[in-house]
Amino acid sequence: MSSTINKCLFPVAGYGTRFLPATKAMPKEMLPILTKPLIQYGVEEAVAAGMTQMAFITGRGKRAIEDHFDTSYELEHQIKGTDKEPLLDGIRGLIDKCSFAYTRQIEMRGLGDAIMEGGKLIGDEAFGVILADDLCTNGNECVMSQMAKLYEEHNCCIVAIEDVPEQDVSSYGIIEGEQIADGVFKVLNMVEKPKPEDAPSNMGIIGRYILTPDIFDVLRNTPLGKNGELQITDALNTLAKQGKVMAYRFKGRRFDCGSVSGFVAATNYFYEKTLQEKS
Ligand code: G1P
Repeated sequence: MSSTINKCLFPVAGYGTRFLPATKAMPKEMLPILTKPLIQYGVEEAVAAGMTQMAFITGRGKRAIEDHFDTSYELEHQIKGTDKEPLLDGIRGLIDKCSFAYTRQIEMRGLGDAIMEGGKLIGDEAFGVILADDLCTNGNECVMSQMAKLYEEHNCCIVAIEDVPEQDVSSYGIIEGEQIADGVFKVLNMVEKPKPEDAPSNMGIIGRYILTPDIFDVLRNTPLGKNGELQITDALNTLAKQGKVMAYRFKGRRFDCGSVSGFVAATNYFYEKTLQEKS
């Protein structure tokens, strides 16, 4: 199996109900932190990790994402040669470097179901998964790059984790693991959104995964789990029992931009950073 990862999957079909009414007619992934939509941060991270083929699991009402990763002739014609033109350099660079493929999740049956749908765009190779509302930042090396490096070494599924407050474990997939190197765990068990009293630890999975293509078969054979949805955590647990999943305590910072407080924290963080870079 080739160990270089080229494809990254972006499940973007979710409704974003926590941001209503803003997300009534606009995908939550298009909410901007400063001037850049969340999804663009995600794609930039994938590119920084060496991936060039972006695959989106979309749904109804998500057309703005496709339009964002496309040329906007009228607008670009209007601002050509003006001081506004450089504002599009970043997105144009991504469009030049990457391919973008889309498939729709017809019914919302959970993250596992979305990833299973993505199988059509991935084929038989390992791939990254980025949940764009988890916005990650790290000075030198982005989280997906750190994970891709680890994948080169271990050739197995990897989930990014961070320690979460005990009262919040019921919002995450939680792992139980055995530390095999600094920040690297062999996963022994994982549970989707357990009650605090049932949680095997407080190590929560965040929205960064590297998955091997055997996950698709496992997903097809995984029963519905928490909230009646097909959970990626349950499918990964099957592979974990075969010693094929690692967890990685990433270096950097993650903002839960699926929540208003996390979104505001990310906005403040990136704004401060911009001010510092200017001074
Ligand atoms: C999903 C996963 C969960 C993971 C989380 C990370 O949950 O099911 O295991 O911890 O993403 O953001 P969601 O937040 O989509 O409910």
